[in-house]
Parts: sequence; structure tokens; C-alpha cells
Amino acid sequence: MYIARSRNARYPSSQVEGLAARLGVEYIEDHPVPADRLGLLVSNAGYLLYVPGHPPQAWHPGMTVMRCRTPERDPLIRALGLLPGETVLDGTLGLGHDAWVVLSVGGRVIGVEANPLLALFTETGMRTVDPERCRGLRVITGRFEAHLTAPRAEVYDHVYLDPLFGGEGQASAGTWAPIRAVGRAGRFDLDGLLLAFDSARRQLVVKLAPGEAPPSLPGRPEPVIVSSKRLAFAVWAH
Ligand SMILES: C[S@@+](CC[C@H](N)C(=O)[O-])C[C@H]1O[C@@H](n2cnc3c(N)ncnc32)[C@H](O)[C@@H]1O
Repeated sequence: MYIARSRNARYPSSQVEGLAARLGVEYIEDHPVPADRLGLLVSNAGYLLYVPGHPPQAWHPGMTVMRCRTPERDPLIRALGLLPGETVLDGTLGLGHDAWVVLSVGGRVIGVEANPLLALFTETGMRTVDPERCRGLRVITGRFEAHLTAPRAEVYDHVYLDPLFGGEGQASAGTWAPIRAVGRAGRFDLDGLLLAFDSARRQLVVKLAPGEAPPSLPGRPEPVIVSSKRLAFAVWAH
């Protein structure tokens, strides 16, 4: 991974170099950027994410624009059943699309993302596109397991985990390329899921693959499934 600075960027090179050092990634001055690695270009047009085999992309809310229009029909929003002022710890922030929808209905989000480049790209992009909406957003770089504080510390009402790629199909192939590049989360191990449930004040919500049975959490209540035609979420409530 790398951070590059375009030659005419208004940010001083020392600032961008410092950012790369903080994130522990290589610093590259100017184009051309390596074609075989995930990287971020700092330019006057903002942060552009370079994914091998894809055109550079600025952060955009993608299909969430539609989801935000009718949130009452959105299966994630239905699964969360947010009460005013509640906080969701989104343990797999990724491109922040689910977090964007949660913020649109007034939820507060603590987004945790393991990949430092993606965490920076997503947070900066979201704040640039709609600073007002992102007042309730906090982003942490790292693994969610390290930020959970069981037993229920009342810091977050819901823990949400999404180990899957977003929207299947050609139309969204480019949008989700960064997630493919950083690697899918895979199934979380049982200890991580138990910690997630035990840390949430109200509930744990996990996105399921189509037709996938929810994992069984020993000693915890059975989950309820909330689904739409394309998506399903398992909800374990306290
Ligand atoms: C499928 S994506 C999530 C997509 C996200 N829901 C969205 O709407 O954009 C999974 C993300 O979780 C991150 N990830 C995987 N394991 C993680 C962990 N243990 N802690 C934090 N982030 C993790 C990956 O780097 C990837 O960006």
C-alpha cells in the first residue's frame, strides 16, 4: 500500500509524507503510481483510491442514495431498529456505505476498519461529501475485536458486522473493488462474535450471505432473521 501526492497538490509534501508514515505505508511523490497495489493519491480534487485493474475513484455513496430515500424499507435499518440517540459500532466500516445509511436516519456511528488506507479514504470522503451528516461519525483504524469492551459498557447500543462484499453483480463491481483488494473479512471466529454480542448494550447484527444459516452463539439467545429479497441480517438481542 502507498500514499502518493500529485505534483500540483496544494498540500505540502512533508504533510502527505507524514501521513504515510503515520499509517505505516510507502510515500510516493507524484505519478505514475504502482499499478499492482492499493494506494491513495492526494490531489487537489481530494483523495483518490487506486485499486489495481480499476480506474481511480473518489469516495461516493453509491447505491446508498436509494437506500436513504426509503430507510424504513432498508433491512439493515429494520434490523437495527434504532432509537433516538443510539450508537452503532460498525466493526467492518469498509467503504462506509452501511454507516452512511445509519447516519442518514440520525444514528451515531463508531466505524472500525482494519485497513488504514481504507479507513482514511472512507472517513475523509464521507466528511467531504456531507460534513453535517458525519457529525455523528467517529472512525477508528484497527480490528474491531480490540475495541470491544465486554461486558456491556454502554458505549454502543448495537454492534454491526458485515463480512461480505457489497451488492453483487456487474453494476457494483467497480464500487466494491477496494473491498476485494483488501480481502473480505471472512467468517468471524466464535470468540469475536461472542465478544461483539456481550459488548453491545442492545444487540448484535451480522450480515449473512444469501441462504446462509446464522452462526450459533452458545449460551446466548437465538437470533431473529430480518431480510429483504437480496439481503439477510441475523439479530441477537439482549
Ligand atoms: C465487506 S466490507 C464492509 C462493507 C461495509 N459494510 C460498507 O457498507 O461499506 C468488510 C470490511 O471489514 C474490514 N475488516 C475485516 N475484518 C475486520 C476486523 N476484524 N476489524 C475491523 N475491520 C475488519 C475489511 O478490511 C473490509 O474493509
